[in-house]
Amino acid sequence: MNVFAPVRVGYDGRVTTIVTGGAGYIGAHVVRLLLERGEEVVVVDDLSIGVASRVGAARLVVADVADPANVPVLTEALRGGDSVIHFAARKQVGQSVDLPAWYFQQNVAGLANVLIAMERAGVEKLVFSSSAATYGLPDAALVREDATLDPINPYGQTKVVGEWMAHDAVLSFGLRLACLRYFNVAGAGWPELGDPAVLNLVPMVLEKLAAGEAPAIFGDDYPTPDGTCVRDYVHVLDLAEAHIAAIEYLDRPERPATVFNVGTGEGASVRQVIEQIGIASGLDTTARIAPRRPGDPAYLVGDPSRIAEVLGWRASRGLPEIAASAWQAWQAGPRRIA
Ligand SMILES: NC(=O)c1ccc[n+]([C@@H]2O[C@H](COP(=O)([O-])OP(=O)(O)OC[C@H]3O[C@@H](n4cnc5c(N)ncnc54)[C@H](O)[C@@H]3O)[C@@H](O)[C@H]2O)c1
Repeated sequence: MNVFAPVRVGYDGRVTTIVTGGAGYIGAHVVRLLLERGEEVVVVDDLSIGVASRVGAARLVVADVADPANVPVLTEALRGGDSVIHFAARKQVGQSVDLPAWYFQQNVAGLANVLIAMERAGVEKLVFSSSAATYGLPDAALVREDATLDPINPYGQTKVVGEWMAHDAVLSFGLRLACLRYFNVAGAGWPELGDPAVLNLVPMVLEKLAAGEAPAIFGDDYPTPDGTCVRDYVHVLDLAEAHIAAIEYLDRPERPATVFNVGTGEGASVRQVIEQIGIASGLDTTARIAPRRPGDPAYLVGDPSRIAEVLGWRASRGLPEIAASAWQAWQAGPRRIA
């Protein structure tokens, strides 16, 4: 790893991809796949959440993308680059309710700075991390990309505004754009790249087990087969592969769509996920039932037809692989369960 800023890239003729937030959970997986393809990778990350060791042999520019004073640094980091994958953002829904202006500053202004730097550096291809949170509480069991966007928290709103802003850049300077709306990301492609945050179901269950406590199920009276909420769990390595497919798509002369769900189309209930973690870990995962949480829809599963047809991407790893890899990563990390 090589920490410096600013940096001029692309000097040796290799394809260079700039990954903002590449020291984080999902970004680090994409960085590793790009490096394995022999590409040059520049990570721009403020290391507020991310960890420098996760970027491996990529060059690391430590900078806050949301600070307008850093646009020249960003522009320099992008110069000579082929494409940008923009992960850097804040993603805690509850925190976004408490600090909405900061979320807009971080997520929306951060993307604005990246777009300005892209235009100045002449980089045309952008893959943007969007989210199923853009849909809010959809009616359909299987959500398509053309569903109404009706986010129910500031985090989801920042992603909708980010998509709008990026679409405007398509019109203004010819940006080539793919917005990927991720569903529930979990698992680990490598044991050392597990999800360090305890915000989603799988790490929340693992944290409870580590503390010798029963995992919680928030509501078991939903209109679903076993009464618990159903979500679309995507293995982080499948998701990382979707980014590679998206970058390749942006090289095509004809690009019929700019927004893609990244889901499996298969729902799994909270109970099923907890059961799989029990199978993977060999631990007793008997859960306790807690009250419903506000804002949790019964079903949220993405229709993956478009990404399959247009990008040729399909998830290839299921819930057993997600649970087993998350367990392995948890054991490999600082939060080992004795
Ligand atoms: N993890 C999920 O389930 C999920 C679901 C939908 C969408 N997303 C989106 O995917 C992206 C990546 O998520 P993740 O799970 O890898 O999160 P993460 O927190 O692990 O990674 C985000 C990275 O961005 C960096 N960062 C944050 N703000 C920054 C800033 N202003 N300047 C520079 N660096 C900054 C952090 O240090 C971190 O390394 C985010 O945009 C998130 O909103 C994640």
